[in-house]
Amino acid sequence: MTDEGATTGDVLVTDGLTKSFGGITAVDGLDLSIGSGELVGLIGPNGAGKTTTLNLVTGFLLPSGGMIRFNGEDVTGERPNELSRRGVGRTFQISKPFGRLSVYENMLVPNVPYGPAEREERIRTLLAELSLDHVAENRADEISGGQKKLLELARVLMLDPDLVLLDEPAAGVNPALMDEIMEDIKRINAGGTAILVIEHDMSVIEELCERVVVMNAGRNIMTGTFEEVRADERVRDAYLGGT
Ligand SMILES: Nc1ncnc2c1ncn2[C@@H]1O[C@H](COP(=O)(O)OP(=O)(O)OP(=O)(O)O)[C@@H](O)[C@H]1O
Ligand SMILES: [Mg+2]
Repeated sequence: MTDEGATTGDVLVTDGLTKSFGGITAVDGLDLSIGSGELVGLIGPNGAGKTTTLNLVTGFLLPSGGMIRFNGEDVTGERPNELSRRGVGRTFQISKPFGRLSVYENMLVPNVPYGPAEREERIRTLLAELSLDHVAENRADEISGGQKKLLELARVLMLDPDLVLLDEPAAGVNPALMDEIMEDIKRINAGGTAILVIEHDMSVIEELCERVVVMNAGRNIMTGTFEEVRADERVRDAYLGGT
C-alpha cells in the first residue's frame, strides 16, 4: 500500500491543503494520502508544518485552501467532533488529559456510539492493554508524562477510529516506555487502524513506518521508505536548514 494519490483504499487524502497565518504559509499546497490500515511517518524540521497539518486534518484549524477527504468523502471544513465521529482520532504534541478527573473518568469523556456495558468493557480492556489499569483511580495530573500519553491514546481508541494521528509520541518518554508505546502502536495498527505518526526520533520512525512523508516549509518534499528518505539529498538539505 504505497500508492500515491486518491485511490479507493485511501482513508485520508489531502489535495492542495493550505494554511496561512498572516504572512506565514505553514502548510503550502500539501498533497498527502494514507491508505486504509497503513502506518505512515510524517517527518520534517521544526516549523515544517507537521502539527498544523494534523490540526487541519482533525478540524482544529480551518484550511485556507485545498481539500480533505476522509474515507472517500469531502470533509473539508468539518469540526473536530464531526471528524472524530467519522473515525479520525488524534493525540497532542503536549498531552493534556483532564487533570482533576481520574484516569478511568477520562475514559468516560468520549461520546461513544454504544451503550454503557460495552463502554465499561472497552475501558477495562484498553486500560489493561495500555498498562494503565493499575492507575485507573489516580488523578490524571498525577500520573507520569508517558502514562498521560498512553491515556490520551486509550481515550482516542474508545471511538474505534479508522485513522489515528500521533504528534510526537516519543517526546519526553523514557526508552523503556517508548518500546511499550511502539508495541501498542503496532498492535493498534495490526487491528486495522491507519496511523500517521509525527516524530523527530528517527529510530521510532524506522521501527514503525512502512512509508515516510517528509515535509519542509509546508510542502511534501518526498515520500518513500525510511531507507529511501534517509539517503535523499533533499531531506538532508531540509534538515540542514536549506529549503
Ligand atoms: N497559530 C499559529 N499562529 C501563527 N503561526 C503559527 C501558528 N501555528 C503554527 N504557526 C507557524 O506555522 C509554522 C509551522 O508550525 P508547526 O507547528 O506546524 O510546525 P511543526 O512541523 O509541527 O514543528 P515542530 O517539529 O517544531 O513541532 C511555523 O512557522 C509556526 O510558527
Ligand atoms: Mg509540531
